[in-house]
Formats: sequence, structure tokens, C-alpha cells
Amino acid sequence: MDARLLFERRFGGLPAAVAASPGRVNLIGEHTDYNGGLVLPVAIPQRLEVAVRFRADERVLGASRAAGGAEARVGDAARGDWLDYARGVAGELRAAGRIPGRGFELAVVSGVPEGAGLSSSAALEVAAALALLGAAGSPAADGERPWLAALCRRAETRFVGVPCGPMDPFAVLHARPGCAVRLDCASLEWQPVPLPDELELLIFDTGVVHALREGGYAERLSECQRALERLRPALGRPLANLAAVGERELYAVRPALDDRVWRRARHVVRENARVDAFVRALRDGDAAAAGRLMYASHLSLRDDYEVTCAESDALVELSRGIPGVVGARMTGAGWGGSTIHWVERARSGEAARRLKDAFAERFGREPRWWLARAADAARLSDPG
Ligand code: GLA
Repeated sequence: MDARLLFERRFGGLPAAVAASPGRVNLIGEHTDYNGGLVLPVAIPQRLEVAVRFRADERVLGASRAAGGAEARVGDAARGDWLDYARGVAGELRAAGRIPGRGFELAVVSGVPEGAGLSSSAALEVAAALALLGAAGSPAADGERPWLAALCRRAETRFVGVPCGPMDPFAVLHARPGCAVRLDCASLEWQPVPLPDELELLIFDTGVVHALREGGYAERLSECQRALERLRPALGRPLANLAAVGERELYAVRPALDDRVWRRARHVVRENARVDAFVRALRDGDAAAAGRLMYASHLSLRDDYEVTCAESDALVELSRGIPGVVGARMTGAGWGGSTIHWVERARSGEAARRLKDAFAERFGREPRWWLARAADAARLSDPG
């Protein structure tokens, strides 16, 4: 069932606009976005669809195929349900004068797996934003996509209350088929980076949804903040963010930071350098070098940043012995979520089977997995 059909069944009549957004994985550059660093995300083919129509009153009615119904009124505070993501975005669009102050009906049908760290929340925010703008008769222009990405992030941090970085909404708004998005999170400059055609991504869901993920994420944010506050006087220069620190400089002032905070900073600084090394390796046609950087990224997230888990560590280690796998790492925030395995297309099916079997043997359950190639950005659908 698509969102249009769910809309018709639940609310009667036709939606005024329909939009769809992909989920994402990040190839490399993890926990760098809120430190002003580089990231390299890719949109996945799974998409979430939203259908919208404004109402004459102030009621906001939601219907989700997976999560059921939800209801609120314009101006209500967040309630901790899925509709918060759409209401947060609507509040920001209203404040910007881009949509009417009335309520709306909104139907969601999602093909983006939830709870797997594939950014189903950014997909919902972005699809809702595009559909609301479409329904208001002022669709987002292509040049407004960076603005819209920032607006979605604001909705999530201020209204929903999740302190995320800029990567996810930006990624799904700027993706191109066959390409990753190299984004500089300090300047918001970005470029599409073509990926080798003979490789694809195998995504494995660890099945671990860590209850402390949000607390852990906020803790890492404040550890990075602490590192920055100590590094400014130690280096004797103004520093806009942690990604602006060089590895040599960081080693030179090591005593200024306690060991845990120093390791967090080392991860950010090295991971940031790995993104451009990865892009260079791709340009040189050296996928093996790019793959080694993915493994190095995972080890740094395991040992210095401490956001991996037994399942993601095992999937990445298992990959090293599987023919056709070029590189592997956890992707997204961590504490569970998914791993990505960059694999030769000709051998991807066999690699998936071997990983799945080894995982099932070790953890006693079958993991969910998907094969993915870099997909297109979020879009407003043609009126149908
Ligand atoms: C989550 C956040 C992103 C980013 C990643 C880690 O997905 O939403 O902004 O910080 O974690 O790289």
C-alpha cells in the first residue's frame, strides 16, 4: 500500500501532495558532523512516503501503516509519538511563513526499516516537509534544499528533543543515484562523489536497539565540547570546532585532556582525515585502500569513541575473511544499529549468506539484511 491509498482510506478523498524520502547509510565520517567535520553518506533505495492535506481547523491527524494513528492540535507541545517529527517540521515551516497556520491530515507508509539506524526519522521529517510545502502550493525549490535540511534538524533538536547533527536530513535531500554526498558540516559545502559501479553495499541490522543510545549520544556531544574548551587555551588559537584540529597538534597538547576525552577527540580528528583519504582513494580507483579506511574507522569507533557493540564488532571482523568484501564498519550513531559491508557485486549474494550464517551461529538469531546501491534524493511526487 502506498501513502496515497492509506490517506484515502483513513481520511477520505485525495491528498493535496505526496512526497517520498530515502533512508541513508554513512560510508565514512562518523560522529564528525556535530564537530564541524566531513561526512560521506549515501541514500538507500528504501523510501518512506508521506501524503498530506491541510484542514480548515487546527487539528493534526496522523495515520501510519506501521505505527497507527496519532492526533494533536497546532501549537501543542511534543507528545513523544511519531507525529512529533512531522509536527516539529510543520511548526518550523509555519514560523517561516511557508505553510498555513491550520491543521492537516498526514499519512505515512515507510519502506525504511525502523530501529536499524538507517535514519527513518530524517526520512519522515524531510518527506513531511516536502509534502507540506507542496500542499501549501509553494514547493521547495532545489536551491532551498540546504535551508530545508537545517530546518528539519532544528525540528528534531528543538521540538522532538533529539540532539542530532546536520548529516541525515542533508544527505537525503542531496543524494544522487550512484553517488555519495561529501558534506563539510562546518561550511555546508557539498559535492557528489561517484562510487564504483562494480561495488554495492550490504547492510546488516545488528538488531540491537540500545536503550542508552540517546543518553550516550548526548554524552559524546558534551565530551567533544569539553575537548574543545580545553584545546582552545592549550593551542592558543580560536577553534570553531573539533574537526579544525590537526592530529599532530592534538598529540602536542595531550596532557591538557583527560584520557577519555582525549580519545574522543582523537577519533574525531582522525575520522575527519579518513573521509578525504577515502574520497582520494576512490578518485585513484583504489577501492582496497578505501575499504581499509572503513575498517580503521570501525576500530576507532570501537576503541576511542566506544559506540560499537558485540554484534557490530563481530559482523565487521567476520567480513575480513569473506571473499569479495572490500571494507566494513558500523554506520550511524552506533550502540547497535546497522553495519555496512562494501562488496563486489558479483559476490554479494554469497557474502551475505556467509555473514548471515556466521551471525546466526554466534548470536542465535537471524539478522535482517539488505543489498543497496546509492539511490536518489527525497522528492515531491507528481500529482497523480
Ligand atoms: C546519528 C545522528 C547524525 C550523526 C550520526 C553519527 O545518525 O543523527 O547526525 O551524528 O549519528 O555520525
